[in-house]
Amino acid sequence: MFKKTLIAEFFTTINFHIFMRTIWLLTLGLPKLRYWNYTSYLENQFLSYIWSRNSKIVSFYNGRSALFHALKMIWINSKDEVIVSAYTCVSVSNAVIQSWAKIVYSDIDIKNLWLDIDNLNKNINKNTKVIIVQHTFWKPANIKKIIEIAKEKNILIIEDCAHSLWSRIDWKKLWSFWDFSIFSTWRDKVISGVTWGFLIVNNEKYFDKIIEIKEKLKMPGRVLTIKNLFYNITAYLSYKFYDFLWLWKIIIFLSRKLNIITEILTIREKNCDFNDFNLLLPNSLAYLASKEFQKTKLYSTHRRTIAEYYDEKIKSKYIKILFHKSQNEKNNYFRYPIIIQDETKKNKLYNYMKKHNILLWNSWSGINIVPIWSNLKKSKYIVWSCKNAEHISKHTLLLPNHKLIWFEDAKKITKLINNFLK
Ligand SMILES: Cc1ncc(COP(=O)(O)O)c(C=O)c1O
Repeated sequence: MFKKTLIAEFFTTINFHIFMRTIWLLTLGLPKLRYWNYTSYLENQFLSYIWSRNSKIVSFYNGRSALFHALKMIWINSKDEVIVSAYTCVSVSNAVIQSWAKIVYSDIDIKNLWLDIDNLNKNINKNTKVIIVQHTFWKPANIKKIIEIAKEKNILIIEDCAHSLWSRIDWKKLWSFWDFSIFSTWRDKVISGVTWGFLIVNNEKYFDKIIEIKEKLKMPGRVLTIKNLFYNITAYLSYKFYDFLWLWKIIIFLSRKLNIITEILTIREKNCDFNDFNLLLPNSLAYLASKEFQKTKLYSTHRRTIAEYYDEKIKSKYIKILFHKSQNEKNNYFRYPIIIQDETKKNKLYNYMKKHNILLWNSWSGINIVPIWSNLKKSKYIVWSCKNAEHISKHTLLLPNHKLIWFEDAKKITKLINNFLK
């Protein structure tokens, strides 16, 4: 209606159907849901998608809780070390720190954001218990190589598939490679259930522990559930009225002030001081996630079409397109990262696009433990210790390719980028 700004950063998963379903849930639907168990329906839906009869699934309120409980299952203690990519989200750092393990950041390979194997080998010692292999943005990591190393040294692997629902490598779905994997459908991920994270346990040795974990989990209170549902209302209205008399800013400002929506990351999480990981997924949000899950393929195809257009049309000697299509991969194209050689140019490009009503995604920019306001000291990251991760974070911007971006929009974005860097 009043829309002209193209946004890569927020509202990437909101749509009319989610909005209408949320209204239904907040009015007529909520009492009905009490009689259904949508969470186990959703779990079965996912297990049939991954064709797995031999793995177990446990649902949580979010992906960070899934990661925390995977580490707790392994029975980590303060001497144990957990290796994490140095280009990651602070929610990952917080979950590892709260599990009492020693967090060890390992540098990435600048070409593909994989864990750099030389650096990884240097970081492994007799206390290394777990390697978290993150498939960043959508790019499948070098998991097979890391499995070889882990097998040899008796180290466990957690695949972090928070960005890679629906992706595959060598026709194997990402999740299936080793001991554990975690997924997320938090509202800024591949699909949105507003929240939901889950853990897949592939290693039979840990099946018994699942019962212990399930006993600890509790349902979020009604207020928290309703705040999550309100997020969909606020996000949809803000998106629709983004350019109309600052209405979106007023909607967001009031929702925050009145505390009627949830934040993606709380201040305590950004300071790695948050330790309540025992919440379950409410039935109403499981209902939303389940409906969106059916559309994952559709969304991935859309993202791929836009990504392929950018691949072909963006022509500039200053810009490097980070990920290219590969024959043995099938991906969700969740993010479209570009690398700009010069940091000042990157900032200028961001501002130039903003002037033309295009907000590029810069949450994974500027700092390597994202987002920008994360507390590096409390994340236990030592500045300059992982130079490639820092370099990438300072030079990356993400172009929008989500389902609210049309082909015409992609054309406009490409034209502006090519013009600017000329
Ligand atoms: C790579 C990665 N892993 C895990 C998570 C945690 O997922 P969630 O937001 O569902 O807690 C995030 C969150 O952004 C992430 O980016």
